[in-house]
Amino acid sequence: EFELVLARSGETVRVGATETALAALRRIRPDAVYSCRQGFCGTCKTRVLAGEIDHRDRLLTPGERPDHLLTCVSRSTGGALTLDL
Ligand code: FES
Repeated sequence: EFELVLARSGETVRVGATETALAALRRIRPDAVYSCRQGFCGTCKTRVLAGEIDHRDRLLTPGERPDHLLTCVSRSTGGALTLDL
């Protein structure tokens, strides 16, 4: 489990061990966009302002990886992730 923090509103949501960050995010942001939900399309790409990302996709470029997250597949390494939302 880990927490998502939405930087602009200060809202937080907990991502359970058996759900995706996208699913948790959509509880408080029902309009969060996605398509493939498998880490292929990039539609769910979200900028990360703080936290360590556990990347589980093969789509993001090395240049994107330090501060972008595909919420449909990737997670945190343990601590909170602060999103640019
Ligand atoms: Fe396609 Fe996340 S929804 S990469």
